[in-house]
Amino acid sequence: MEFISRSYEETTRFAKEFATTLKGNELILLEGDLGAGKTCFVNGILSGLGFPSGGCSPTFTLVNEYPTTPPINHFDLYRIGSEDELYDMGFTEYLESGKINLIEWPQIAYAILESYPLIRIQIQHTETENERIITIENL
Ligand SMILES: Nc1ncnc2c1ncn2[C@@H]1O[C@H](COP(=O)(O)OP(=O)(O)OP(=O)(O)O)[C@@H](O)[C@H]1O
Ligand SMILES: [Mg+2]
Repeated sequence: MEFISRSYEETTRFAKEFATTLKGNELILLEGDLGAGKTCFVNGILSGLGFPSGGCSPTFTLVNEYPTTPPINHFDLYRIGSEDELYDMGFTEYLESGKINLIEWPQIAYAILESYPLIRIQIQHTETENERIITIENL
């Protein structure tokens, strides 16, 4: 599925809509360059599940847990340097927690993630300012 967003508000709205399809136990990869809109998409999902977190500000923590229904774990693995660090933080326990796991910068974890069913969301800049192509696929 592909969607063209022309503003962060449109991305937020689209993510809110997408959130209505989530039941729990999903593993969702968020891929795209710096500033693509991954956190913006996460905040749209949070807002769709009744947890308004406002705007598209960057994440600075490895994992944020939200008491939504279903609950959400939001990861940003940008600063993770090795798989060992993932095991140290209990990454696989999170993956098997039955919660919705939203993972920004999942590349470092691919080898671990590939044994699970995944939803991949890719957000790409285009030549047009504020425009993004958002694709969603099941892996
Ligand atoms: N169509 C759009 N969708 C989403 N964000 C947009 C759009 N157009 C402009 N923006 C801006 O792009 C930025 C996206 O920031 P965001 O933190 O969501 O990116 P990110 O992909 O999480 O980056 P990072 O890799 O640093 O975590 C925000 O400043 C937002 O206002
Ligand atoms: Mg981000």
